Amino acid sequence: MTGTRTMIPAPSVADFLRDFETMSAFGATPAGGVERQAASSADIEQRRWFAGLLEANGFRVEYDRIGNQFGLFDVAPGEPYVVVGSHMDSQPTAGRFDGAYGVLSAAHAAFRVAAEHASGTSTLRYNLAVVNWFNEEGSRFAPSMMGSSVYTGVMPLEKALAIQDHTGVTVEEAMRPTGFLGDGDGPTAAYSAEIHIEQGRILENSQITIGLVTASWAASKYRVVVRGEQAHSGATVMEDRHDALYGASLLVVFARELADRFPGVLHTAVGQLDVYPNSPVVVASETTLLLDLRCADEIVLAEANALLDARFSEIESIARVTIERALSHNWGVNPYQTAGVELARSSAEAAGYSHAEIMTVAGHDSINMKEVVPTVMLFVPSVEGISHNEGEYTRDEDLIAGAAVLTDVVRRLGAGELDGENG
Ligand code: GLV
Ligand code: MN
Ligand code: MN
Repeated sequence: MTGTRTMIPAPSVADFLRDFETMSAFGATPAGGVERQAASSADIEQRRWFAGLLEANGFRVEYDRIGNQFGLFDVAPGEPYVVVGSHMDSQPTAGRFDGAYGVLSAAHAAFRVAAEHASGTSTLRYNLAVVNWFNEEGSRFAPSMMGSSVYTGVMPLEKALAIQDHTGVTVEEAMRPTGFLGDGDGPTAAYSAEIHIEQGRILENSQITIGLVTASWAASKYRVVVRGEQAHSGATVMEDRHDALYGASLLVVFARELADRFPGVLHTAVGQLDVYPNSPVVVASETTLLLDLRCADEIVLAEANALLDARFSEIESIARVTIERALSHNWGVNPYQTAGVELARSSAEAAGYSHAEIMTVAGHDSINMKEVVPTVMLFVPSVEGISHNEGEYTRDEDLIAGAAVLTDVVRRLGAGELDGENG
């Protein structure tokens, strides 16, 4: 496949915006968002479309064993790849930019760099891999960042494939019939890059176009099961109750109070709550919650976790329930490699875009990737910081600016500009 890209011209800004419109139609909701949870029919149809786009631009499409989708452009047989991408799955009734923008920018960046290589205007030392990571959102199959976790060895493949949705369907059962489970481990990475909307208000408030991500906020995500005893919600005297929903509610409220104790550095929420039997005249016997703590400071997070631990015991005695909790997903305040931040800074500078360092509060696949290879993460502004909401929006000019900076980053990583840098 080496050099097959020769005759295909690099796509233009108009091509990018047109492709973004096309991709936003997969799972489009009437309010302008998307509903494209991992392995849903919208996700599957979009993956097929994306495979076609990659092939039409001279890239060969491959899948690894967890269903990460790769578009490969080989220039140097045996050499590793610059892996650039994000995810195309979404939360329920979500925005059309989260993840999808990063995948399309990655594809267009790689198409351009491949075309430059083919025409001799720049030289690649590494092969290129565009990636659409499987199930970044973790909404149907928790936890999040699943495809990149398997790729980087953070999560065993068998464990990921066996994870079940609400109805007991496993990842493997949902993905096998789609034809998107391959039989390899995917391309070997030398470097990686990802661009994403900020999902916060820092860039917009400071009128900065490009965020140079220096580190991630830490996260502790818990799966909590509160167990009580089923009872008649009218007839059972109050002292006899072991109300699992009451216990869960105390926890929901405490999560908010905890964040209020550490303003600006701690974000918390219960995003998912399942109640059994969830019936009108029944005191719940069991509730399951997904509780999420994010923190800019690992010491504060440890303190918050200790306070939460103490509160679990208090709630057990107040609501007369038992609480079982497991840390289902966690990561630290971990830096992106400084050399990559500097490379991105100089690309933004050369293109004439304002830029500033920023931390990522949300999780991204690059949080996994940066643990195995030097990784560059870029942000563009999100209007009003709205995200995981159909109203999510980023202006065209910011989309284009980000894609241009990402293209230069891919060009430079591909040329081996960071070789020999160690940090
Ligand atoms: C994923 O998007 C996360 O923030 O956990
Ligand atoms: Mn995302
Ligand atoms: Mn998201």
